[in-house]
Parts: sequence; C-alpha cells; structure tokens
Amino acid sequence: MRLSYSAVTPKRIYQNRRCFLATLAALAASPALCGTKLAGVTATPFGADEKPTPYKTITSYNNFYEFGSAKDDPADNAANFVTTPWSIRIEGDVGKPLTLDLDQIMKLAPLEERIYRHRCVEGWSIVVPWIGYSLSALLKQAEPTGKAKFVAFQSYYDRKQMPHAAGLQFPYVEGLRLDEAMNPLALLCVGLYGETLPNQNGAPLRIVLPWKYGFKSIKSIVKIKLQEQMPPTTWNLANPGAYGFYSNVNPAADPWRSQKEERRLGEFAKRETVIFNGYIKEVASMYAGMDLKKNY
Ligand code: MTE
Repeated sequence: MRLSYSAVTPKRIYQNRRCFLATLAALAASPALCGTKLAGVTATPFGADEKPTPYKTITSYNNFYEFGSAKDDPADNAANFVTTPWSIRIEGDVGKPLTLDLDQIMKLAPLEERIYRHRCVEGWSIVVPWIGYSLSALLKQAEPTGKAKFVAFQSYYDRKQMPHAAGLQFPYVEGLRLDEAMNPLALLCVGLYGETLPNQNGAPLRIVLPWKYGFKSIKSIVKIKLQEQMPPTTWNLANPGAYGFYSNVNPAADPWRSQKEERRLGEFAKRETVIFNGYIKEVASMYAGMDLKKNY
C-alpha cells in the first residue's frame, strides 16, 4: 500500500512563511487564512510516484485570472476571498437536479490523496498531492439522462471580490465530454498537501484533469450543467486558434507554441513532454480513432 504524503511528512515542514504568518493572524480574525487539515484521507492507486513540488511553489506560482494575471497575483489578491458558505448547482439533462453545500460534497465519497503531474500550456509543470475523489461520484448523484453528452463547468465570479480580474471573459467556463468527466482519473478536488485548498489554488473546490493542459482544471466551481451540445470554454473564446476544446497534453500538436518540452518548476533542465502527460493507460482509449492534431 502506498502511504499518503501527509502520513509520511512531519506536519507543516512544507508550510511557507506566508501561511505561518496568516495562522498567527487567524488567531485574531475568524476566517481561516490557510488550509485546515483534512481528516481520513487515504492513498489511492491513481497518481504518480514522483516527488511533489514544494508547497510554497504550488501556492505562490498560480494562474487564476479572476485575481490578476501575474503568477504571484492570486496568492496576494485571493487572501480574503470568502468561500463559506459555498454550494454547487448541478442541472441540465439530469434526472435529479441538485444543490449541494460543501459539507454534503465532502461526505459524498472517501477523500483520497492523488499525486498528479500538472502540465501548463505555457510550458511549465508541477507535481501536486491533491485531495478529493472521482468527479463521477458527484455527477452520478444527479443521474445524467441519455441526452447528456457534455458537462459544462462555471467558476464563481464577483467583481467586488475580484477587482483584479483581467484578460479574459468571466465567469471562467470549461467543459468536458461526458465520458471524460466520468473517467476515474478526473478529480473533484478539495485540498492539497493534506489540507483544504488554498484560495489561490481554487478554494473550496475545483476540477483536476492531469492528462489535459492546466487551463481545463477549472477552479472555484459553482455550477455544473449536463447538456447535449459542446459547451463554450474560456480560453477557446479568447483565442480559438490556440486553445481547442480537448486540450489534451500532446507534444505533437502545437497550434500556438511547441509543446515538445516542459520545465518542472524548481528544475533547470527541460524534460520531454509525454502524450496525455503520461496517463496513456488511463485515458487513451477515450480518443481512439480521433485525429488529436485536428481535435487539439
Ligand atoms: N480556473 C479559473 N476559474 N480561472 C483561471 O484563471 N486558470 C487555469 C486553471 N483553472 C484558471 C482556472 C490555468 S491556466 C491553470 S495552469 C491552472 O488553473 C493553475 O492551477 P494552479 O494555480 O493550482 O497551479
């Protein structure tokens, strides 16, 4: 059995100074400013046996355009993002439309730690010990009908809480084919490094799709709609020639820039990018017969 990262790592060796200071501040203020430890997390057969990227890097080098477009903007500007109470609406072609609050979502399935590679289309990559469970467990609750072919996701957006939002149309939206969303590798994520998600990483819940470029892994979700039509996606709306609906990691398809290599944050030398970010066994069959250069 593989041990979870939190089981083998002394508490808080990864904690950065920002979080430490925030903890002190939180003694005076009520909302928690950094993660709450998640109980009962088990290891999972899904995930890479690779060394996770340091906590500090994962939580200070982010893309979350609602909080600004520079890499250090989200950590700075999302510090006071209010994520309680939080609920998520699941609707559309489903037998049982649902609104679930965060407590209900946390109890739907056992929480697992999954160490996934994460590859951004900008050419950098990280390895993250995420926490959550398969997205399929959530979607099944709503009982998708035979008409549902795609799943549309929508992030939270509030200009008052996000005055630094820039560069894209908001709310941020993403989408998957239903079989992709039901693939066990697709993670409904509520935490990382043994704790609840930091705001800059998409608190309180996001999707993680390790075989696709990072922009498909939509953060801070409030709505999920099952539907017959392929939904619009934010980066495709911004630049249709560069960002396709599928956006599977693919060193052979490079509509915007070469995707043959990547730099793991913290490493100097570049490494070769692998099709589906290495998750071939888990996902390749979903794209059998498809031209992945055309359907990038
Ligand atoms: N989700 C929302 N709502 N807004 C965003 O700007 N950026 C995406 C994705 N999800 C983004 C988002 C991009 S481009 C990447 S690479 C990942 O989040 C980054 O996730 P991380 O900051 O946890 O590494």
